[in-house]
Amino acid sequence: MERPFPTVAVVGLGTMGAGVAVAVAKSGRRVIGIEADEASAARALARIEEATAHAVARERLTAEERAGLLARISVGSALDAAAAADLVIEEVPERLELKRELFAELDRICPPETVLATGTTALSVTRIAAATARPDRVLGLHFFNPVHTMKLVEVVRTVLTTPRVAEDAAAFARDLDKEPVAAGDRAGFVVNGLLFAYLNQAAAMYESRYATREDIDAAMRLGCGLPMGPLALLDLIGVDTARTVLEAMYEQSRDRLHAPAPILGQLVSAGLLGRKTGRGFYTYEAPGSSRAVDAQTGPARPDLPGREVRTVGVCGSGTMATGIVEVFAKAGYPVLLAARSQEKAETAKAQLARSLERSVAKGRLSEEQRDAALALVTPVGQYGELAEVDLVVEAVAEDLAVKRELFATLDKIVKPGAVLATTTSSLPVISCASATSRPQDVIGMHFFNPAPAMKLVEVVSTVLTAPDVTATVLELCAKVRKHPVECGDRAGFIVNALLFPYLNDAVRMLQEHYATVDDIDTAMKLGCGYPMGPFELLDVVGLDVSLTIEQVLHQEFREPGLAAAPLLEHLVAAGCLGRKTGRGFRDHARR
Ligand SMILES: NC(=O)c1ccc[n+]([C@@H]2O[C@H](COP(=O)([O-])OP(=O)(O)OC[C@H]3O[C@@H](n4cnc5c(N)ncnc54)[C@H](O)[C@@H]3O)[C@@H](O)[C@H]2O)c1
Repeated sequence: MERPFPTVAVVGLGTMGAGVAVAVAKSGRRVIGIEADEASAARALARIEEATAHAVARERLTAEERAGLLARISVGSALDAAAAADLVIEEVPERLELKRELFAELDRICPPETVLATGTTALSVTRIAAATARPDRVLGLHFFNPVHTMKLVEVVRTVLTTPRVAEDAAAFARDLDKEPVAAGDRAGFVVNGLLFAYLNQAAAMYESRYATREDIDAAMRLGCGLPMGPLALLDLIGVDTARTVLEAMYEQSRDRLHAPAPILGQLVSAGLLGRKTGRGFYTYEAPGSSRAVDAQTGPARPDLPGREVRTVGVCGSGTMATGIVEVFAKAGYPVLLAARSQEKAETAKAQLARSLERSVAKGRLSEEQRDAALALVTPVGQYGELAEVDLVVEAVAEDLAVKRELFATLDKIVKPGAVLATTTSSLPVISCASATSRPQDVIGMHFFNPAPAMKLVEVVSTVLTAPDVTATVLELCAKVRKHPVECGDRAGFIVNALLFPYLNDAVRMLQEHYATVDDIDTAMKLGCGYPMGPFELLDVVGLDVSLTIEQVLHQEFREPGLAAAPLLEHLVAAGCLGRKTGRGFRDHARR
């Protein structure tokens, strides 16, 4: 097949345009670079030369390849030069009128078959196309910054774009060694549509002082494996850019969750735009620097001494309980593993032994360490044995009646002054506390699955939790090598409150036939560096578990945008719960 678009014009050679020009020339195509005036053209050429020299220094390109590549790029300031191109990619600043005027000009200059693409992030491709007499040959090509490392390209079709043109554009993207995903013309397309709603919620969470900026960022990095926390990412993207994208999204969706959080407007008004101005949510060494100088490094430290914890009891015999026992035993704490029967407790200890064995096999643990950890764990078949422990962590079924009954039992048994913790992920901690006569000693310790591997613990204080109890748990987390983040007792805590609305948005995108499961997963992995796409994650977590968390969040905040997507409810009703049943958003049985 003939390679699509042998000659490409790139109009606007700034951050994106220069990157696109190099990527296109690298594929062997001729590139006609066009800037606003001669001075800008000279600067653009210098930028391209510098960037490619850097690529040679980094061994991403040989000197010969660079010479060939540069020979294929011409840079000037006459828009008329675009007449020789098969495809024109516009990368000028994000202003609708500027782009519309440019497209009207290009429409006049270029032969009727030339395809015109806009690099817009948040403007309507349809409105830009409407400035021409060939809206069927206009589309969006949304590259990501920096173009040389980011593999994703969103190929945006309007209702008027001819399918063949979008197919050619996708083939062109693949030929540049990029991964194209198909998207419709909607503010934010796939990646930013999902990303910015989440960033906005994180900004709002910080603004409401629910948690500190460091804790919000650490929670998302360590709890979800994201490459950056949301507030640090807002600083990188630019608070002004984020606000503009959100405004455009709100304009189209009228979803309050897209209305920019007031703090974004305040920061923009104050000129605190993020890294580029040296200050945004964090303060940086200098404008353009990535080094935050006022960020608290490491986990939160208590400001008063905690209670002494020498022995620990863990209630439960499931995955979380066994994982939590492993965490404490490996850190040298004697642990009573308390289950409803001696048999269940013994089985859980056997499970723990297998887990430790796997660590030994993988070379992460020595045989001596395994034996020492196992020797510290005593399985017990009744809660009465917990009388003398200093801390109890409850990890039984996620059912409020069951947990309340257990807390009432612990209240009668455990010595005064012991800390009683629940590892619930979606029930109110205060409801566990109020089942006891000592709510000041009750706190949430939300571990993540698998507990031995996941660094994060959300430390959830209720309105009645005593400050030294919070201090005890913060200190203890450090001793068992976990990273604690502090938050209040409301639905979802930090991680789930930010993660599940994003997953729900992805389901809604699918339900509206905006993009496919594969395209959405690919887009989030390549566009944001996420370890898993939203549908992969939903299938792993379980659709039933996800639905419950979304319902709890909606019930708590009554935000219409948080209502669970009907498609998720339908899949759960049909018994498609994800990997555990063989089918969820994907059919795992057939793979
Ligand atoms: N920066 C990003 O992270 C990013 C990522 C994806 C998409 N985008 C989008 O890409 C587009 C370009 O953004 P950018 O960050 O490269 O902007 P930029 O400001 O770095 O570059 C814009 C360039 O266009 C030139 N220009 C202005 N008017 C012109 C005209 N009439 N004719 C020719 N050139 C003209 C400017 O001189 C400048 O060099 C925008 O639509 C933006 O939303 C940006």
